[in-house]
Amino acid sequence: MSTPDKEASSQQADLEALVAQAIAIQPRAWAPYSRFFVGAAVWGEGQVFSGVNVENASFGLTICAERAAITAAVASGVTQLTAVAVCTQTQASPPSSPCGACRQVLREFAADPRTFRVIAVNPDGARREWTLAELLPDSFSGAELP
Ligand code: THU
Repeated sequence: MSTPDKEASSQQADLEALVAQAIAIQPRAWAPYSRFFVGAAVWGEGQVFSGVNVENASFGLTICAERAAITAAVASGVTQLTAVAVCTQTQASPPSSPCGACRQVLREFAADPRTFRVIAVNPDGARREWTLAELLPDSFSGAELP
């Protein structure tokens, strides 16, 4: 059995791998209109899934990087997510936090919003961190639905 210290350090290593994946994928963003390149990676059930923002000439069809990563996870059968890393551009310093729509979609698959980690970075190494509950307090989870 691993000690709490070991668990914490392996969790930190997992988060660093998540951040590295978000940074690595960011250049693949399809953002010819905004020129705002975003990479995202989500952690769930021991696996990493990544995505980029995909824009469209019909502007309203743009998909954010976070939601692209989430759909990749769900398509692989992974629906219990515990962290997301988002990489925006160096010029966007401090790094941007996820938009409201993405926060709500993250909430859908967050195993626990109070411990779900949201890490925003840029390729220069700037970093901001929150829990999902901090970014989306009193969230709508669907628990109220009949
Ligand atoms: N974008 C994301 O990918 N994630 C966010 O959380 C905020 C915005 C994208 C959408 C669009 O392609 C570009 O950034 C500018 O809004």
